[in-house]
This record gives sequence, C-alpha cells and structure tokens, in this order.
Amino acid sequence: MRVLIVGGAGYIGSHVCHAFADRGDSVAVLDNFSSGSRINMPEEVEVFEGDIMDKSFLGRALSIGWDGVVHLAAFKAAGESMTDPGKYAVNNICGTINLLNAIVNAGAPPLVFSSSAAVFGEPVRLPIDEDHPKAPENFYGYTKLEIENLLDWFDKLKDLKFAALRYFNAAGYDSKGRVREPEKDPQNLLPVIMEAAAGIRENLIIHGDDYDTRDGTCIRDYVHVSDLARAHVQAMDYLVAEKKSLKVNLGSESGISVAEMVKEAVAITGVDFPRVKGPRRPGDPAKLVASSSLARNLLGWETTQSDAASLISSTWSLYRRYIECPKA
Ligand SMILES: NC(=O)c1ccc[n+]([C@@H]2O[C@H](COP(=O)([O-])OP(=O)(O)OC[C@H]3O[C@@H](n4cnc5c(N)ncnc54)[C@H](O)[C@@H]3O)[C@@H](O)[C@H]2O)c1
Repeated sequence: MRVLIVGGAGYIGSHVCHAFADRGDSVAVLDNFSSGSRINMPEEVEVFEGDIMDKSFLGRALSIGWDGVVHLAAFKAAGESMTDPGKYAVNNICGTINLLNAIVNAGAPPLVFSSSAAVFGEPVRLPIDEDHPKAPENFYGYTKLEIENLLDWFDKLKDLKFAALRYFNAAGYDSKGRVREPEKDPQNLLPVIMEAAAGIRENLIIHGDDYDTRDGTCIRDYVHVSDLARAHVQAMDYLVAEKKSLKVNLGSESGISVAEMVKEAVAITGVDFPRVKGPRRPGDPAKLVASSSLARNLLGWETTQSDAASLISSTWSLYRRYIECPKA
C-alpha cells in the first residue's frame, strides 16, 4: 500500500516509516523538519517538505492519492503547552483540521492518529482502560482529546475511518540501528538518563521520592517505540479490512519506577551517573499503567521489546554510536 506519514521524520514517525517499509509498503513523509531528522528515515522514502499549516501545500500532497495516512505531527511538551497554549492550539488542533480537510477532499483514505495517555489526566483507577474518564491535566492533553472529538465528527459526517492510538511512555530505539540521531531536547526519563550517563548533562534529577509506590518514585508504563510502530501497521490493516474507527491504549501494562530504571541503566551502561533529588513536579501522578487488552483483541498487538533491559540497551547503543560519530 501507499502510505503518507505526516510527522514521519520525528522520533516515533521514523520508526513508523521503517515498520511500513519493512513489509514492503511504499512510504512517503510530509514534515517541516522542525524537530525531525532526515537520516532517521529509510533511504527510499519520498519527502514532501512543508507545514501542515499550509493548506495549499497539504492539498497538493494529499491529492497524489494515498491508501492510508498516519498523522504524528504535533508539539508534545506538556510543560510548554501550559505556558504557551496558543502555540499548541495552532499547531496541534488547527494543523490537524487542515489535514482532515485535505484528507476528506482526497477521498478520505483511512487515518492513524497519534493520541496520548495525556487525554486521561490523573487516574481514578488502574490500569487505565479506554473507558477511563478523560480529564487532561495539561493543555497538550487537551489538544489530543479535542482532536479525538473532531475525528468522531469527521467519521460521522464524512465517513473518515480513523484509529486514535493513545501511546503511554514511548521509549527505546530501533534495535537494528537504522535510527541514528537521538531526539532533540528530550524530556522523557530514559533519554535524560542516557544524557547523564554519556556526560551530556550534569546529572539526573529525580522528581520526588516520597510517592505512595513500592520505592517512593513515580511508576510509568513504558512501551518500546518499535512495538508502537508495529501498532500503526496493524491499525491501518484493521481500518482497511473492517472499515470501523477505533481508539485504543498502547502500553506494556507493566509499570517501571524511576528508581528501577536508574538501577537497570547503571548496570547496562556501566556508568554510575550523578543523581540528585528534586521536588515533585506539579500534576505528576504516582502511577500510570495502561490496559492494552482492547489493542490485543482488536489488532492482535503485543509488546515484544518493552522490558527495561531492551528499552535501555537499544537507547544506549544509539547514544554511544551518536557520541562517537554524530554524522555517521
Ligand atoms: N514521544 C512520546 O512519548 C509520545 C507520547 C504520546 C503521544 N505522542 C505523540 O506522538 C507524535 C510523535 O511524537 P514524537 O515523540 O515522535 O515527536 P517528534 O517531535 O519527534 O515528531 C514530530 C514530528 O512532526 C513534525 N512536525 C511538527 N509540527 C509540524 C508541522 N506544523 N508541519 C509539519 N511537520 C510538523 C516534526 O518536525 C517532527 O518530525 C506526536 O503527535 C506526539 O504528540 C508522543
């Protein structure tokens, strides 16, 4: 099939490109390269360089004719979304409306959309299943929920079939080493640990060690980015075969605490990097763990690389290669 991957040069997008290309699909990427990287995508990918805010550019790119579209283009820093909501409203919500209009004008090929666990906010029960109340704690999460609501209407009114994939914490890198450049300005735990281990940052700040968890540090559900990428292929196949929209949670269903991740990272990297205790961050729940049984049942999706050792070793390999030879 011919797939257009919007935001395909980014961290998750580049893995999604490899997942479609690996099974022989023809892959094109639409990206403005604000945070993406060309060298992370498969070589044979066709590139449409431009912005989802540019309606005529989108119209031209979509009119070429695609069997499916994946939409990952967005800003994603939850903290920044609280100080600059306008920036997030424009890029995430307005940009998506432009894309939805272009998709509908092009005959409404099925769409796989990057949603987020941030749509849920503070958990009222665990594990978090799809029916869990939606009460985003930050504006970024609100943009994702708003887009899910828009998608429901475009399905009802324009017969646009979509899969909203609510990722929990994406982590890790391609185990074959095909993704070569690390995320720019990472904010998630694992790349920050890697930067501390590699000496790129002075230390790792552990935000709160007095939570009501097994070791006092926050517990999160980490899912390997290649497991996530495979879910996009499976969701696209589901949309083509079933012609029914869906919203599913994608997590490993097992939580790893900050302290556990640090311990495993010290063992794998062999570097006892400096750590300092910091205050809790506002809006950081003690524990977030997904239920992914719907994705398992509907898509046949399973995680295969989402254990702490695979997450850390694939990330450390990338950082080591990159530090030794950044342009390789
Ligand atoms: N990384 C995570 O843990 C995580 C968790 C939940 C959801 N998500 C969502 O997954 C998606 C991908 O995340 P990521 O971690 O790969 O982020 P990323 O920043 O690495 O990738 C986003 C890509 O979109 C492109 N882009 C952004 N705005 C654009 C625009 N206006 N026009 C064209 N291209 C544009 C960027 O250049 C980049 O290549 C995002 O929608 C994000 O909200 C990510």
